[in-house]
Amino acid sequence: MSRTDDDTWDITESVGATALSVARARAVETDAEHPLYTDPYAHYFVEAAVEAGWRSPFLDHGGERAKAMAAYIASRTKFFDDFFTTAGANGIDQAVILAAGLDTRAWRLPWIDASTVYEIDQPKVLEFKDRVLAKHHAQPAVRYAAVAVDLRHDWPMALRQAGFDPSTPTAWSAEGLLPYLPAVAQDALFEQIDALSARGSHLSVEAFGEVFYSAEQLDRRQKRVAEARRAAAEAGGSGPARSEAESPMSEPDVTGLWYMEARTDVAQWLTEHGWEVSAIAAADLMARYRRPAPADLEDPVPDTVLLDARKI
Ligand SMILES: C[S@@+](CC[C@H](N)C(=O)[O-])C[C@H]1O[C@@H](n2cnc3c(N)ncnc32)[C@H](O)[C@@H]1O
Repeated sequence: MSRTDDDTWDITESVGATALSVARARAVETDAEHPLYTDPYAHYFVEAAVEAGWRSPFLDHGGERAKAMAAYIASRTKFFDDFFTTAGANGIDQAVILAAGLDTRAWRLPWIDASTVYEIDQPKVLEFKDRVLAKHHAQPAVRYAAVAVDLRHDWPMALRQAGFDPSTPTAWSAEGLLPYLPAVAQDALFEQIDALSARGSHLSVEAFGEVFYSAEQLDRRQKRVAEARRAAAEAGGSGPARSEAESPMSEPDVTGLWYMEARTDVAQWLTEHGWEVSAIAAADLMARYRRPAPADLEDPVPDTVLLDARKI
């Protein structure tokens, strides 16, 4: 699967399907005996997608690697949940969730009075989300605005047109997004966030490190995917034809959706532009939440750091 500058997708296609994989992981965590959070809507999205013919390539095969990834997504979700709750506790009543996918924080978090949450993603992704939530009569816990626009386009204008006020501090998040953007679009994104952020704004980012984008790690990952597919084929997996990224009965090969390019160091860039940044590595975050990655696995979790920044 290759990407193009202006590609678009529905929820079961290309980058859209990655939002379903995250929802699937959140549904699993919600059903855990002692979940880090509960996302009662995650199952609805998965069910609706399965009804539409999607078969989750993620977690289906169990195994240590799938469990490690589920633990990572659970920890990451909790990190961003806590980020927004803390921003609210600091009086911030405007939030922008970039590449929101099937994130349901606007429905399930305790927002402070008169808050507004703007969610940005591609039109078909937000349409699917709206359809499923409406079917289940879900009501946002906050004033909510869906902003259907591509983050490689003029999203600041769309955001302003939806009512966003750049003169008031904002809580921003970029979770599960950056590898899907070309490096130049990532740079533009942070320049635009900075330009729209009043002093006192908060920003949370899942930032990907050099190892994540390295040819060596990509090679290891692709070999594992090929191996898992061979094993699935030998076990007799079959199903309707699908795109490679969401091929049933196989490991998801999201690597074809990523832009494997050298990146600006986000923490450093923010620091140089007047943000106070704290960072925690994925493995440390998981340990903090008692969801540690298995020590004996090669590349158990993505090479990421979770950033919590404040514009001073
Ligand atoms: C891995 S999912 C993460 C979704 C969500 N942040 C979460 O953690 O649940 C990636 C999301 O990024 C969105 N996305 C990626 N590139 C985008 C772009 N150029 N414009 C808008 N949305 C984009 C996809 O549509 C998808 O919903």
